[in-house]
Amino acid sequence: MDQNSYKAEVTEAFNQAAARYDRMGVEFFTPMGRRLVERAALRRGDRVLDVGCGRGACVFPAAAVVGPRGRVLGVDIAPAMIEAAAAEAERRRIRNVELRVMDAEYPELPERSFDAVLGSYSVIFLPDAPAALARYARLLVRRGRIAFTSPVFTDDTFPFLPPVFADLIPRSLLRGLPPQWQPDALRRRFNGWLQEVGDLEATMHRAGFRDVDVVDEPVHLVTASGETWVDWSHTQGMRLLWEHLGPAERQRLRETLIAGLDALRDGDGPLVIETPVRFVTATAA
Ligand SMILES: C[S@@+](CC[C@H](N)C(=O)[O-])C[C@H]1O[C@@H](n2cnc3c(N)ncnc32)[C@H](O)[C@@H]1O
Repeated sequence: MDQNSYKAEVTEAFNQAAARYDRMGVEFFTPMGRRLVERAALRRGDRVLDVGCGRGACVFPAAAVVGPRGRVLGVDIAPAMIEAAAAEAERRRIRNVELRVMDAEYPELPERSFDAVLGSYSVIFLPDAPAALARYARLLVRRGRIAFTSPVFTDDTFPFLPPVFADLIPRSLLRGLPPQWQPDALRRRFNGWLQEVGDLEATMHRAGFRDVDVVDEPVHLVTASGETWVDWSHTQGMRLLWEHLGPAERQRLRETLIAGLDALRDGDGPLVIETPVRFVTATAA
């Protein structure tokens, strides 16, 4: 698939997801964004860029930390995400936030104009992420900081999903996906450069960063039931799997997942899925 049709497909998927994205009774992106902002060690007055900002999981906590003298620019390729985030900023009367539709792979922004760049679960979507990281290094002032997250990919199931799904999603179903959406192809696309910590560090150094820190830390995804998880999964990366299944396969997978996930709950208690997340921080040389 060429880059333009890949980006058009990603944009369409997130445009469709935006209205319900992170608003479906599943706690995951918001706590992960808050944690990323903590790890980024922002200071009052900082100028922050959030790439692939979605509905603002990092934008809003970052805006609170940098305060009225700082500012946060959130950019996303999906206009519906930017509209939703802008409406939220307006609703909360937050004045130090700006939101713009932009392809974060080629940010059209002045060099040396940011103190920090953030990207939560977004850098992985860029077709040439290492080249984009080098552009981010140039947007940062000297000693400026970058902080981003990615899934910790496992070889056993669809990318974006934690290991527990290896037992819940039949391999035969994944093998039936179009070649470019098969787990192997997606893994190569999303994480060829960040699977091994050594490769990731080398990529960051080549991009112009140093003091690279890579920490895999669990984020607890919390939701009421298997069904709420399955509904939510249509609004995040797994949407790319649902979209490529026929109606019968989709229904079968829905039922299998709901039953399998409900079996993990403690009685009527919430469903808690420990999801390993990779947090990467570094400093612009
Ligand atoms: C999984 S969401 C994460 C959103 C947000 N950072 C969060 O943590 O909730 C990935 C986001 O990256 C955006 N994205 C994907 N490719 C992009 C690109 N080339 N430029 C800008 N945004 C992009 C998507 O539109 C989507 O909003």
